[in-house]
Amino acid sequence: MSKRIGILTSGGDCPGLNAIIRAVVKCSSQKGWDVYGIPYGTQGFLRLANGNCHSQDFELREHCYDLPGLLHGIDILQFLSGSILGSLSKGTSGDQAIADTIIRGYQDLKLDALIAVGGDGSLDIIYDLAQQGRWNIVAIPKTIDNDVPFTERSVGFDTAVDKVTSALYDLTFTAASHDRTIIIEVMGRNAGHLALSSGIAGGADVILIPELVPKIDEDLITNICLRIAQLRQSGRKFALVVIAEGVRNHAGERQKAIAEYLTTQINETSQKLSFTEKLEFCDLHKIETRSLILGHIQRSGTPSSYDRLLAATFAKKAADLIAEENYNQLVVWQNGEVQIQSLDKVVSHIKKRHQLGICPNPVDANGFLVQTAGSLGIYLGENPIPH
Ligand code: F6P
Repeated sequence: MSKRIGILTSGGDCPGLNAIIRAVVKCSSQKGWDVYGIPYGTQGFLRLANGNCHSQDFELREHCYDLPGLLHGIDILQFLSGSILGSLSKGTSGDQAIADTIIRGYQDLKLDALIAVGGDGSLDIIYDLAQQGRWNIVAIPKTIDNDVPFTERSVGFDTAVDKVTSALYDLTFTAASHDRTIIIEVMGRNAGHLALSSGIAGGADVILIPELVPKIDEDLITNICLRIAQLRQSGRKFALVVIAEGVRNHAGERQKAIAEYLTTQINETSQKLSFTEKLEFCDLHKIETRSLILGHIQRSGTPSSYDRLLAATFAKKAADLIAEENYNQLVVWQNGEVQIQSLDKVVSHIKKRHQLGICPNPVDANGFLVQTAGSLGIYLGENPIPH
């Protein structure tokens, strides 16, 4: 049966969004369905309802992204990061008139179903609109933060881990050449998944994530300095410290440029420590630090094969769900395969966590990745270092 399917990408972009769109278009065209790409998340419905664009502008066809000349036929979309639709996580700010207009835009497009690609914040926003407008919705999780609950993986995370790991590799050589400690700030919002996975894969000496280190206190700084001193004693003169942006300052507040903040603290404390008799041998006064914020480069680049595979399998599952008219589901990755989870359950979990100011899907503080980091001798800030 012919259907009209909408797809939108919402929230921060990440590699793999275009791969999802491509796969949705391919799966749908096999079923004979028409696909409409909604620009800028739910704002596209608003534009349509306000007469700022036409429904024909939204049509997505399998070969409309072909390259020119001899490159004609190359299906480039799956390799490109960003989103051809644009991505915006703007809610209605509680304005019912805006919500009603968005809902009218959905109706104007005469959609049978909508595939919403989003992270925890966007799912929360879109779910409310979907409830009000009685939309037939299926959602696909994406985010470099990997903090969507009930899924082990979201599209975009794997590529971001690769990006940070590769930055750590590059920084290793300059750090080693100058006997420096380099402090790298990694994204992740309130979750430490990106910092932890890339820190392990990239050979970090210290990894600080909000789940284990809620704030930077004096003991923590001392312990980091001691860890660096230990490394120096063992002959490794440089160090790589990965800090997740969600780690708070000494007052427990969110700090812009937390890596720079930590750098200042390490410099001050290592100076002080270097004058204590016990630690004279550690050369702590010679610690030279540099910090950097990796920033939005973590959201760029060709999606990894794993992210493209997730994108393809999630898109197929979303299309299957629509064919079965099994709506209000989030497609998830659990135990190595694609599964589904009721959006009611997912969003009520997200809302509760957001109200409490807690990450909806934090790193498991006792999980195997944390244990692995500990076993590799990576300092995670949890234990005092003996000196
Ligand atoms: O949620 C993805 C993310 O990249 C976070 O890791 C980061 O905190 C945030 O978005 C940055 O948002 P913006 O692009 O609005 O600066």
